[in-house]
Amino acid sequence: MKRPSTKMFLDSGDPGETRAVLQTLGFLDGQTTNPTLIAKSPEAAARKERRQPFTNEELWEFYKRVVQEISGLVPQGSISIETYADLTTTAQKMLKQAREFNSWIPNAHIKFPTTAEGLKAAGQALAEGIRVNMTLVFSQSQAAAVYSATTGASRGDVFLSPFIGRLDDIGQQGLDLIKNIQQMYQKGGGHVMVLAASVRSVAHLQSLLNLQADIITAPAKVLLAWTKGEEISTLPQPPLQSIPYEELNLNADWQSFDLHHELTDKGITKFSEDWNSLLQAAVK
Ligand code: E4P
Repeated sequence: MKRPSTKMFLDSGDPGETRAVLQTLGFLDGQTTNPTLIAKSPEAAARKERRQPFTNEELWEFYKRVVQEISGLVPQGSISIETYADLTTTAQKMLKQAREFNSWIPNAHIKFPTTAEGLKAAGQALAEGIRVNMTLVFSQSQAAAVYSATTGASRGDVFLSPFIGRLDDIGQQGLDLIKNIQQMYQKGGGHVMVLAASVRSVAHLQSLLNLQADIITAPAKVLLAWTKGEEISTLPQPPLQSIPYEELNLNADWQSFDLHHELTDKGITKFSEDWNSLLQAAVK
């Protein structure tokens, strides 16, 4: 398999999948994790099954162990570690986690939700030399805010993660968001790298390669099917509504952009619930 110019990341909280993809694909440029993926990783899932919840401290130790194992497997790559946030978590609380996570491995990007609190935390993290990955991006105006709030950072220090599959899920053409952000970012200096996330199929992956996305993160089953020239699902897709391009000024104050998106709020809630489900005594 010829290595594409787009950086290829694995989207997984399971180092076993990192090994399997490295063996088949031959390379990986990085890996993204999130609370849902950590909850699904074999050890956490088995504990949940056994109704043996983690203590708070044990869960952070577990996340650290997983991330360190992945970092050892992809030492030249970037490993994204996501801050725990619910809808009330302050920038200070996210920042405290970011400092701790960044000490776990030498090749971290710390994920913050693309909200006002997340962006405040990310701005301070960057000032302290911590690389960031702004996650749960569903709109061009969120992407403009990230660009503006992080102006001055070096290319590679800021990733922006638009979630294409979740937009498809609500009937919108997620790939249009990537195209629109790329078009808007052409007017800037290029310090933000677009990391296309929530990739559900080989067709998604192929379209993102055609768009020359900076980075793609995809689940193991998508990467493995791609290497075999197969598709993972043959389900017919309902027609998706296109997302129109918006004229936005990247030099405007980041706080002037509309940061709200219902899928961002929904995503934050789901991530926090999945994390908390590992801690609760009465595990479903
Ligand atoms: C990666 O950074 C994202 O958290 C992930 O791609 C989300 O994917 P999903 O929409 O399939 O949960």
